Amino acid sequence: MHRAMTVDSTKSRPRLLGMLNYLDGKYQHDIARDARQGLAASQKYIPCKYFYDARGSKLFEDICRLPEYYVTRTELSILKEIAPGIMGTFTHKDLVELGSGANQKIRILLDAAGESNRATIRYIPVDISESAVIEASEDLLERYPGLRILGVVADFTYQLDVVPTERPLMFCFLGSTIGNMSEDESISFLHSVSENMKPADRLLVGFDMVKSRRTMEAAYNDSRGVTAEFNKNVLEVLNNELNANFDPSHFDHLAFFNEANSRIEVHLRANRDVSVRLESIDMEVEFKQGETIHTENSRKFTSKSIEDMANHAGLYLQNWYTDPNGWFSLVVMGLNPLITPQML
Ligand code: SAH
Ligand code: AVI
Repeated sequence: MHRAMTVDSTKSRPRLLGMLNYLDGKYQHDIARDARQGLAASQKYIPCKYFYDARGSKLFEDICRLPEYYVTRTELSILKEIAPGIMGTFTHKDLVELGSGANQKIRILLDAAGESNRATIRYIPVDISESAVIEASEDLLERYPGLRILGVVADFTYQLDVVPTERPLMFCFLGSTIGNMSEDESISFLHSVSENMKPADRLLVGFDMVKSRRTMEAAYNDSRGVTAEFNKNVLEVLNNELNANFDPSHFDHLAFFNEANSRIEVHLRANRDVSVRLESIDMEVEFKQGETIHTENSRKFTSKSIEDMANHAGLYLQNWYTDPNGWFSLVVMGLNPLITPQML
């Protein structure tokens, strides 16, 4: 369950600089609206942001450690290489991480900053999962006692305007979370980020690249079934938030590469005819055996698809980093000085 709003938890957590929750009340409203719409569609769907309650956030951390899930370790290996170059001169600025989750990646940047630079940096994790923001922030404060942190619980798809932008900053959008948006959504998201940037600000984005079908499909069908648990957790979220009665064992995990759309599709497939009631929104939903709920897309990129997306959003690509296999890209973007907002 989403906890009640903590406007400023500095009293109960004296070492946090601050903690702002912009989702109080809204989360309930949003999930009710999205479930009503998504479960009434001919291809039923639920937006993947609802994976991430406290349990979902933990399951995602487990996914990141799976041998099949090459995504995290590949991005980490690039980040370790490039962090000293990015952070050596990063002082008196904010590091704003969108979809921050656990703090494994930001720690690499903060380590590379060194103690004296770190003392001038403020870290602003932004995530829909309150537990993730609190736990990551508390852990970081243990590791880096002088670090200032402002935790923000917000939905980055429509609440970017709550992020403080008065100081010079670098946005980080790691993990290929951008791949969980459609092409149009990612362009308008990048455009909104760019509207919150000044010419000297930067945006660091992680992209998972197209590779062999076998490698990609294995990453979403791990042998221990952690991804299946993560996927089914969305049903528990619906049960908890909307007083629904999904039985997760009546659904199977399904994940495959859709080549035409260059994305892994994740679904939950009913393994029998199923009837579900969502009490809070007074909705009954029927599933025929074999019918699916589309729960996630994870797009896989090419250099061309990344360049096109950035161009459409009014951003230019300043630096591009990849691993020896070209499996993952980390791209530093800035505002395109040749494009004015009116031209977009
Ligand atoms: N950046 C981390 C976590 C990626 S998982 C990494 O690279 O490992 C995706 C994260 O984005 C989760 O923590 C999830 O809670 C968050 N998230 C997903 N949709 C979101 C949204 N609409 N607004 C804010 N956070 C979101
Ligand atoms: C957060 N996101 C980029 C992950 C991905 O790979 O699309 C979420 C995930 N879904 C299943 N496994 C991991």
